[in-house]
Amino acid sequence: MQDDVSKILIHTATIHARLDEIAHQIVEDYRGKELTVVMVLNGALMLVADLLRRVPLPLKLDCISVSSYHGGTQTSGQVVFDQHTLPDIDGRHVLIVDDILDSGLTLAAICEKLRTECKPLSLKSCVLLRKKKTRLAAIDADYVGFDIGDEFVVGYGLDYDERYRNLPFIGVLRPEAIAAASAPAS
Ligand code: IMP
Ligand code: MG
Repeated sequence: MQDDVSKILIHTATIHARLDEIAHQIVEDYRGKELTVVMVLNGALMLVADLLRRVPLPLKLDCISVSSYHGGTQTSGQVVFDQHTLPDIDGRHVLIVDDILDSGLTLAAICEKLRTECKPLSLKSCVLLRKKKTRLAAIDADYVGFDIGDEFVVGYGLDYDERYRNLPFIGVLRPEAIAAASAPAS
């Protein structure tokens, strides 16, 4: 699996050091408040696990599942919510945690849905990665781990066709690995 990676973009230790800083900021911002963290499955799994272990606040954790990629490396532009019930966040301060801000369509759709269908006291977002590019949706995240270039990355929760999530670092895939995964099975 690691052979499919052409370059490590962000090492594990660097991620953890940045999470220390973000967690510190979150503790400052939410001390004494009723916080619910809503993680976006599956990509935010590693981030949430490592981040929340650094946040010694009483909080609730919920999750939401959406899909927009359908196996490729480009967003389909359509964000589909995979569940019928939304998190119970009425009257609570909500922090949405996602793996990456790319086109912005996913985060924008989640914020819009939670704002219109629930009554959160406040709604903020946290992403590990933010791609430097012009976004399709006018949205930014409140807490950002790292700004990266506009390239497809995997690892630390991020997948290509549901694989590579368990790499402990953020890496760039070799083009051959993408081609091999998209070739029809023989
Ligand atoms: P957006 O809606 O285009 O901002 O994309 C958000 C979602 O697309 C993320 O939550 C990821 O699941 C996925 N995504 C975007 N860029 C990448 C990438 O470089 N690698 C893996 N997944 C990505
Ligand atoms: Mg994904």
